[in-house]
Amino acid sequence: VTGADRFGRYREGDPVHRHAASDAWLITRHRDVTDLLADPRLVSATLGDRVATLAGTTPAGRAELAAFYGCWLSLTDGPVHRQLRRALVPVLAPSKVAPWAPVLHALAADQARSVRPDRFADTFARPYAARVLAAVLGLTAAEFAVLLPATGRLLRLVGAATPTAGHVREAVDALGVVGGIGDRLADRAPPTDGPVPLLHGGALRPELVAPVLVQVIGGGYDPLARCLASWARDSSAHAPAGPVPVDEVLRLHPPFELLPRLVADTVRVGGRDLAPGSRVLLAIGSANRDLDAAGRPPAHVSFGAGRHRCPAAGLARTALAAGTAAIGR
Ligand code: HEM
Repeated sequence: VTGADRFGRYREGDPVHRHAASDAWLITRHRDVTDLLADPRLVSATLGDRVATLAGTTPAGRAELAAFYGCWLSLTDGPVHRQLRRALVPVLAPSKVAPWAPVLHALAADQARSVRPDRFADTFARPYAARVLAAVLGLTAAEFAVLLPATGRLLRLVGAATPTAGHVREAVDALGVVGGIGDRLADRAPPTDGPVPLLHGGALRPELVAPVLVQVIGGGYDPLARCLASWARDSSAHAPAGPVPVDEVLRLHPPFELLPRLVADTVRVGGRDLAPGSRVLLAIGSANRDLDAAGRPPAHVSFGAGRHRCPAAGLARTALAAGTAAIGR
Protein backbone atom coordinates (compact mmCIF):
# COMPACT_ATOMS: atom_id res chain seq x y z
CA VAL A 1 0.00 0.00 0.00
CA THR A 2 2.23 2.80 -1.17
CA GLY A 3 0.12 5.24 -3.23
CA ALA A 4 1.74 8.20 -4.96
CA ASP A 5 3.98 10.81 -3.34
CA ARG A 6 2.99 13.66 -5.68
CA PHE A 7 4.48 16.47 -3.63
CA GLY A 8 7.66 14.79 -2.32
CA ARG A 9 9.99 17.05 -4.32
CA TYR A 10 8.38 20.21 -2.91
CA ARG A 11 8.48 18.82 0.64
CA GLU A 12 12.23 18.19 0.35
CA GLY A 13 13.27 21.30 -1.57
CA ASP A 14 10.62 24.04 -1.35
CA PRO A 15 8.13 23.22 1.44
CA VAL A 16 6.32 26.58 1.19
CA HIS A 17 6.02 26.74 -2.57
CA ARG A 18 4.44 29.56 -4.58
CA HIS A 19 2.27 27.57 -7.01
CA ALA A 20 1.65 30.02 -9.84
CA ALA A 21 -0.92 27.90 -11.72
CA SER A 22 -3.30 27.82 -8.76
CA ASP A 23 -2.28 31.26 -7.46
CA ALA A 24 -1.71 29.73 -4.02
CA TRP A 25 0.95 28.75 -1.50
CA LEU A 26 1.46 24.99 -1.42
CA ILE A 27 2.40 23.79 2.10
CA THR A 28 3.84 20.28 2.18
CA ARG A 29 5.59 19.57 5.56
CA HIS A 30 3.67 17.81 8.35
CA ARG A 31 4.63 20.36 11.00
CA ASP A 32 3.61 23.36 8.87
CA VAL A 33 0.35 21.71 7.75
CA THR A 34 -0.70 20.80 11.31
CA ASP A 35 0.30 24.25 12.64
CA LEU A 36 -1.70 26.01 9.93
CA LEU A 37 -4.75 23.75 10.38
CA ALA A 38 -4.87 25.00 13.98
CA ASP A 39 -4.12 28.66 13.15
CA PRO A 40 -7.11 31.05 13.37
CA ARG A 41 -5.39 33.46 10.92
CA LEU A 42 -6.24 30.99 8.13
CA VAL A 43 -9.95 30.80 7.34
CA SER A 44 -12.14 28.39 5.38
CA ALA A 45 -14.60 31.00 4.07
CA THR A 46 -13.00 30.78 0.63
CA LEU A 47 -16.30 31.56 -1.11
CA GLY A 48 -16.35 35.05 0.44
CA ASP A 49 -19.26 37.20 -0.70
CA ARG A 50 -19.21 35.74 -4.23
CA VAL A 51 -22.72 34.31 -3.85
CA ALA A 52 -24.14 37.79 -3.18
CA THR A 53 -22.94 39.01 -6.58
CA LEU A 54 -23.78 35.98 -8.78
CA ALA A 55 -25.47 36.50 -12.14
CA GLY A 56 -28.03 34.08 -13.57
CA THR A 57 -30.69 34.17 -10.86
CA THR A 58 -33.14 36.51 -9.16
CA PRO A 59 -32.40 38.29 -5.86
CA ALA A 60 -34.60 35.66 -4.19
CA GLY A 61 -32.54 32.85 -5.79
CA ARG A 62 -29.32 34.53 -4.63
CA ALA A 63 -30.69 34.89 -1.11
CA GLU A 64 -31.65 31.20 -1.10
CA LEU A 65 -28.17 30.20 -2.27
CA ALA A 66 -26.48 32.51 0.26
CA ALA A 67 -28.57 31.02 3.10
CA PHE A 68 -27.74 27.51 1.92
CA TYR A 69 -23.97 28.00 1.56
CA GLY A 70 -23.99 29.96 4.82
CA CYS A 71 -24.94 26.68 6.58
CA TRP A 72 -22.02 24.83 5.01
CA LEU A 73 -19.47 23.84 7.65
CA SER A 74 -16.42 23.74 5.44
CA LEU A 75 -17.14 27.26 4.10
CA THR A 76 -17.77 28.99 7.42
CA ASP A 77 -15.68 30.09 10.40
CA GLY A 78 -16.18 31.61 13.83
CA PRO A 79 -19.49 31.50 15.72
CA VAL A 80 -21.53 30.32 12.68
CA HIS A 81 -19.20 27.38 12.18
CA ARG A 82 -19.18 26.53 15.90
CA GLN A 83 -22.98 26.53 15.96
CA LEU A 84 -23.17 24.23 12.91
CA ARG A 85 -20.66 21.83 14.45
CA ARG A 86 -22.60 21.76 17.71
CA ALA A 87 -25.63 20.64 15.69
CA LEU A 88 -23.84 18.01 13.56
CA VAL A 89 -21.32 16.41 15.94
CA PRO A 90 -23.96 14.69 18.13
CA VAL A 91 -25.61 13.24 14.98
CA LEU A 92 -22.31 11.48 14.16
CA ALA A 93 -21.40 10.54 17.76
CA PRO A 94 -19.74 7.12 18.31
CA SER A 95 -22.89 5.88 20.08
CA LYS A 96 -24.95 6.67 16.94
CA VAL A 97 -22.41 5.19 14.53
CA ALA A 98 -21.46 1.98 16.40
CA PRO A 99 -24.81 0.19 15.77
CA TRP A 100 -24.18 0.61 12.02
CA ALA A 101 -21.00 -1.53 12.00
CA PRO A 102 -22.77 -4.89 11.40
CA VAL A 103 -25.05 -3.29 8.78
CA LEU A 104 -22.04 -1.91 6.88
CA HIS A 105 -20.23 -5.25 7.06
CA ALA A 106 -23.32 -6.93 5.57
CA LEU A 107 -23.56 -4.29 2.81
CA ALA A 108 -19.87 -4.69 1.99
CA ALA A 109 -20.10 -8.49 1.90
CA ASP A 110 -23.13 -8.27 -0.38
CA GLN A 111 -21.45 -5.75 -2.72
CA ALA A 112 -18.29 -7.90 -2.79
CA ARG A 113 -20.32 -10.64 -4.51
CA SER A 114 -20.55 -8.46 -7.65
CA VAL A 115 -16.99 -7.11 -7.61
CA ARG A 116 -14.95 -7.29 -10.80
CA PRO A 117 -11.29 -6.59 -10.05
CA ASP A 118 -10.74 -4.91 -13.43
CA ARG A 119 -13.64 -2.50 -12.71
CA PHE A 120 -13.25 -2.17 -8.94
CA ALA A 121 -14.42 1.46 -8.66
CA ASP A 122 -17.65 0.83 -10.62
CA THR A 123 -18.45 -2.59 -9.20
CA PHE A 124 -17.43 -2.08 -5.57
CA ALA A 125 -16.04 1.26 -4.34
CA ARG A 126 -18.75 3.60 -5.69
CA PRO A 127 -21.84 1.40 -5.23
CA TYR A 128 -20.70 0.42 -1.72
CA ALA A 129 -20.09 4.08 -0.75
CA ALA A 130 -23.55 4.97 -2.10
CA ARG A 131 -25.20 2.17 -0.12
CA VAL A 132 -23.39 3.18 3.07
CA LEU A 133 -24.52 6.80 2.85
CA ALA A 134 -28.09 5.98 1.79
CA ALA A 135 -28.41 3.51 4.69
CA VAL A 136 -27.00 5.73 7.45
CA LEU A 137 -28.94 8.79 6.25
CA GLY A 138 -32.19 6.84 5.92
CA LEU A 139 -32.56 7.50 2.17
CA THR A 140 -33.91 5.09 -0.42
CA ALA A 141 -31.54 4.08 -3.24
CA ALA A 142 -33.71 6.12 -5.65
CA GLU A 143 -33.47 9.25 -3.45
CA PHE A 144 -29.71 8.83 -3.20
CA ALA A 145 -29.44 8.50 -6.99
CA VAL A 146 -31.23 11.87 -7.34
CA LEU A 147 -29.29 13.57 -4.55
CA LEU A 148 -25.83 12.62 -5.81
CA PRO A 149 -25.96 14.65 -9.08
CA ALA A 150 -27.80 17.49 -7.29
CA THR A 151 -24.96 17.59 -4.75
CA GLY A 152 -22.47 17.63 -7.63
CA ARG A 153 -24.19 20.71 -9.10
CA LEU A 154 -24.11 22.54 -5.75
CA LEU A 155 -20.41 21.68 -5.33
CA ARG A 156 -19.62 22.82 -8.88
CA LEU A 157 -20.77 26.34 -8.08
CA VAL A 158 -18.50 26.42 -5.03
CA GLY A 159 -15.54 25.01 -6.97
CA ALA A 160 -15.83 27.19 -10.09
CA ALA A 161 -13.18 29.92 -10.26
CA THR A 162 -15.65 32.11 -12.19
CA PRO A 163 -19.19 30.76 -11.80
CA THR A 164 -21.29 31.15 -14.95
CA ALA A 165 -25.02 31.89 -15.13
CA GLY A 166 -25.38 28.18 -16.07
CA HIS A 167 -23.65 27.08 -12.85
CA VAL A 168 -26.00 29.32 -10.87
CA ARG A 169 -29.20 28.08 -12.55
CA GLU A 170 -28.10 24.46 -12.04
CA ALA A 171 -27.40 25.16 -8.36
CA VAL A 172 -30.79 26.82 -7.79
CA ASP A 173 -32.56 23.84 -9.45
CA ALA A 174 -30.50 21.42 -7.37
CA LEU A 175 -31.47 23.28 -4.23
CA GLY A 176 -35.13 22.58 -5.00
CA VAL A 177 -34.43 18.86 -5.39
CA VAL A 178 -32.41 18.63 -2.18
CA GLY A 179 -34.95 20.68 -0.21
CA GLY A 180 -37.81 18.39 -1.28
CA ILE A 181 -36.00 15.23 -0.19
CA GLY A 182 -34.80 16.92 3.01
CA ASP A 183 -38.40 17.78 3.98
CA ARG A 184 -39.53 14.20 3.39
CA LEU A 185 -36.63 12.84 5.41
CA ALA A 186 -37.34 15.05 8.41
CA ASP A 187 -40.92 13.67 8.58
CA ARG A 188 -40.01 10.01 8.02
CA ALA A 189 -41.04 7.50 10.69
CA PRO A 190 -38.13 5.58 12.22
CA PRO A 191 -37.64 2.04 10.89
CA THR A 192 -39.10 -0.83 12.87
CA ASP A 193 -35.84 -2.81 12.80
CA GLY A 194 -32.13 -1.98 12.59
CA PRO A 195 -30.33 1.15 13.83
CA VAL A 196 -31.96 4.57 13.59
CA PRO A 197 -30.77 6.50 10.50
CA LEU A 198 -28.68 9.50 11.51
CA LEU A 199 -30.98 12.21 10.12
CA HIS A 200 -34.30 10.68 11.15
CA GLY A 201 -36.53 11.83 13.97
CA GLY A 202 -35.75 15.55 14.05
CA ALA A 203 -32.01 14.98 14.62
CA LEU A 204 -31.38 18.44 13.13
CA ARG A 205 -33.23 21.74 12.96
CA PRO A 206 -35.37 21.63 9.76
CA GLU A 207 -33.43 24.42 7.99
CA LEU A 208 -30.18 22.46 8.46
CA VAL A 209 -31.39 19.18 6.95
CA ALA A 210 -30.85 20.11 3.27
CA PRO A 211 -27.38 21.71 3.69
CA VAL A 212 -26.27 18.83 5.91
CA LEU A 213 -27.53 16.25 3.41
CA VAL A 214 -25.45 17.88 0.68
CA GLN A 215 -22.34 18.24 2.84
CA VAL A 216 -22.55 14.69 4.06
CA ILE A 217 -23.05 13.29 0.57
CA GLY A 218 -20.46 15.65 -0.95
CA GLY A 219 -18.03 15.13 1.92
CA GLY A 220 -18.68 11.41 2.32
CA TYR A 221 -19.44 9.59 -0.93
CA ASP A 222 -16.48 10.61 -3.01
CA PRO A 223 -13.78 10.22 -0.32
CA LEU A 224 -15.03 6.80 0.73
CA ALA A 225 -15.15 5.58 -2.87
CA ARG A 226 -11.82 7.13 -3.82
CA CYS A 227 -9.99 5.87 -0.73
CA LEU A 228 -11.19 2.30 -1.40
CA ALA A 229 -10.45 2.44 -5.13
CA SER A 230 -6.99 3.89 -4.62
CA TRP A 231 -6.19 1.29 -1.94
CA ALA A 232 -7.42 -1.58 -4.19
CA ARG A 233 -5.46 -0.34 -7.22
CA ASP A 234 -2.32 -0.05 -5.21
CA SER A 235 -2.65 -3.23 -3.19
CA SER A 236 -3.30 -5.34 -6.28
CA ALA A 237 -0.22 -3.78 -7.91
CA HIS A 238 1.99 -4.43 -4.90
CA ALA A 239 0.26 -7.59 -3.61
CA PRO A 240 0.80 -7.07 0.13
CA ALA A 241 0.25 -10.01 2.44
CA GLY A 242 -2.63 -9.82 4.90
CA PRO A 243 -5.05 -7.07 5.88
CA VAL A 244 -3.82 -3.46 6.12
CA PRO A 245 -4.87 -1.31 9.11
CA VAL A 246 -7.48 1.24 8.10
CA ASP A 247 -5.35 4.15 9.30
CA GLU A 248 -2.50 3.04 7.07
CA VAL A 249 -4.91 2.96 4.11
CA LEU A 250 -5.98 6.49 5.08
CA ARG A 251 -2.40 7.74 5.56
CA LEU A 252 -1.30 6.62 2.11
CA HIS A 253 -4.56 7.21 0.21
CA PRO A 254 -6.01 10.46 1.55
CA PRO A 255 -8.99 11.23 -0.69
CA PHE A 256 -8.69 14.97 -0.03
CA GLU A 257 -5.10 15.77 -0.87
CA LEU A 258 -5.30 19.56 -0.69
CA LEU A 259 -7.28 21.60 1.85
CA PRO A 260 -7.90 25.20 0.70
CA ARG A 261 -7.64 28.15 3.06
CA LEU A 262 -7.52 31.94 2.83
CA VAL A 263 -5.04 34.04 4.86
CA ALA A 264 -7.01 36.55 6.97
CA ASP A 265 -4.02 37.98 8.83
CA THR A 266 -0.28 37.76 7.97
CA VAL A 267 1.18 34.42 8.97
CA ARG A 268 4.85 33.39 8.88
CA VAL A 269 5.68 29.86 7.79
CA GLY A 270 8.92 28.28 6.56
CA GLY A 271 10.63 31.67 6.65
CA ARG A 272 8.01 33.33 4.43
CA ASP A 273 5.29 35.84 5.25
CA LEU A 274 1.95 34.96 3.69
CA ALA A 275 -0.01 38.17 3.19
CA PRO A 276 -3.72 38.66 3.93
CA GLY A 277 -5.85 37.57 0.97
CA SER A 278 -3.36 34.86 -0.13
CA ARG A 279 -4.72 31.48 -0.99
CA VAL A 280 -3.14 28.44 0.70
CA LEU A 281 -3.31 24.75 -0.16
CA LEU A 282 -2.46 22.43 2.74
CA ALA A 283 -1.10 19.23 1.19
CA ILE A 284 -2.22 16.62 3.68
CA GLY A 285 -1.18 13.74 1.40
CA SER A 286 2.37 15.08 1.49
CA ALA A 287 2.28 15.78 5.25
CA ASN A 288 1.32 12.13 5.83
CA ARG A 289 4.61 11.03 4.25
CA ASP A 290 6.90 13.42 6.10
CA LEU A 291 8.87 10.92 8.21
CA ASP A 292 10.15 11.98 11.64
CA ALA A 293 13.85 12.09 12.62
CA ALA A 294 13.73 8.36 13.45
CA GLY A 295 12.27 7.57 9.99
CA ARG A 296 8.79 6.83 11.37
CA PRO A 297 5.61 7.97 9.60
CA PRO A 298 3.67 10.77 11.34
CA ALA A 299 0.15 10.57 12.73
CA HIS A 300 -1.83 11.09 9.51
CA VAL A 301 -3.95 14.18 8.92
CA SER A 302 -6.25 12.59 6.35
CA PHE A 303 -9.25 13.72 8.43
CA GLY A 304 -7.77 17.20 8.80
CA ALA A 305 -7.13 18.68 12.25
CA GLY A 306 -8.29 21.59 14.37
CA ARG A 307 -11.74 23.10 14.24
CA HIS A 308 -12.69 21.77 10.75
CA ARG A 309 -11.47 18.18 11.31
CA CYS A 310 -13.80 15.58 9.82
CA PRO A 311 -16.76 15.08 12.15
CA ALA A 312 -17.45 11.73 10.47
CA ALA A 313 -14.05 10.10 11.03
CA GLY A 314 -15.63 7.31 13.12
CA LEU A 315 -18.22 6.55 10.45
CA ALA A 316 -15.57 6.68 7.70
CA ARG A 317 -13.25 4.30 9.60
CA THR A 318 -16.16 1.89 10.20
CA ALA A 319 -17.13 1.95 6.50
CA LEU A 320 -13.54 1.54 5.30
CA ALA A 321 -12.87 -1.32 7.73
CA ALA A 322 -16.00 -3.14 6.49
CA GLY A 323 -15.09 -2.47 2.84
CA THR A 324 -11.48 -3.60 3.07
CA ALA A 325 -12.46 -6.68 5.13
CA ALA A 326 -15.06 -7.74 2.54
CA ILE A 327 -12.53 -7.48 -0.27
CA GLY A 328 -10.01 -9.33 1.86
CA ARG A 329 -6.73 -7.93 0.63
C1 HEM B 1 -12.45 8.33 3.90
C2 HEM B 1 -13.41 9.14 4.26
C3 HEM B 1 -13.26 10.59 4.65
C4 HEM B 1 -12.15 11.38 4.71
C5 HEM B 1 -10.71 11.01 4.43
C6 HEM B 1 -12.59 12.70 5.13
C7 HEM B 1 -11.74 13.80 5.31
C8 HEM B 1 -12.15 15.05 5.72
C9 HEM B 1 -11.27 16.18 5.89
C10 HEM B 1 -9.78 16.20 5.59
C11 HEM B 1 -12.01 17.23 6.35
C12 HEM B 1 -11.49 18.63 6.74
C13 HEM B 1 -11.63 19.61 5.61
C14 HEM B 1 -10.98 20.94 5.93
O1 HEM B 1 -10.34 21.11 6.98
O2 HEM B 1 -11.09 21.84 5.08
C15 HEM B 1 -13.37 16.77 6.43
C16 HEM B 1 -14.42 17.56 6.83
C17 HEM B 1 -15.72 17.13 6.80
N1 HEM B 1 -16.16 15.83 6.55
FE1 HEM B 1 -15.05 14.23 6.10
N2 HEM B 1 -13.93 12.68 5.34
C18 HEM B 1 -14.38 11.41 5.05
C19 HEM B 1 -15.67 10.96 5.15
C20 HEM B 1 -16.72 11.72 5.53
C21 HEM B 1 -18.07 11.23 5.67
C22 HEM B 1 -18.50 9.78 5.42
C23 HEM B 1 -18.82 12.30 6.01
C24 HEM B 1 -20.29 12.36 6.33
C25 HEM B 1 -21.03 11.34 6.71
C26 HEM B 1 -17.96 13.46 6.13
C27 HEM B 1 -18.37 14.74 6.47
C28 HEM B 1 -17.54 15.83 6.63
C29 HEM B 1 -18.00 17.19 6.94
C30 HEM B 1 -19.45 17.63 7.12
C31 HEM B 1 -16.85 18.01 7.04
C32 HEM B 1 -16.79 19.52 7.33
C33 HEM B 1 -16.35 19.76 8.76
C34 HEM B 1 -16.05 21.22 9.09
O3 HEM B 1 -15.73 22.01 8.19
O4 HEM B 1 -16.16 21.58 10.28
N3 HEM B 1 -16.69 13.07 5.84
N4 HEM B 1 -13.43 15.43 6.06
